[in-house]
Amino acid sequence: MLKRDCQDREIVVQYVDMNETTPKPDARATIKVCLEPSCCQRGAENVLRALKLGFAPEEALVMPASRCLSGCGMGPNIAVNDNIIRGVAPISVVEKVRSELDNPSCKADGIGSRSIDDLDSVLDDIDLLDSHDKA
Ligand code: FES
Repeated sequence: MLKRDCQDREIVVQYVDMNETTPKPDARATIKVCLEPSCCQRGAENVLRALKLGFAPEEALVMPASRCLSGCGMGPNIAVNDNIIRGVAPISVVEKVRSELDNPSCKADGIGSRSIDDLDSVLDDIDLLDSHDKA
């Protein structure tokens, strides 16, 4: 907006609306459910339904994952704030996710809250991917 200053010069003025609040970052958890065929065959749609019933919209954003989360044979698989949790069941998934939210697993390695015993299968998956890449 143009305005005249004290010396009658034309100046550009920007007003800041003090009533306008800065948007807060979304504090909700993001829960993605794999709905690819392998996870669907293992009940992923019921997992999605249980999560939507178990979390209020202001608590968590529950949505289908945009892609397979890998480790398909261990599904249904979900991602809680990008941490992968494998082999969830509709009856216990809400409790499992709440536990993950209370005590988040490491994000850096992307293996989620899997036990150390499950890491062998992660390495097997990596080996399998490597062999496919070389073929
Ligand atoms: S089909 Fe669900 S993780 Fe691959």
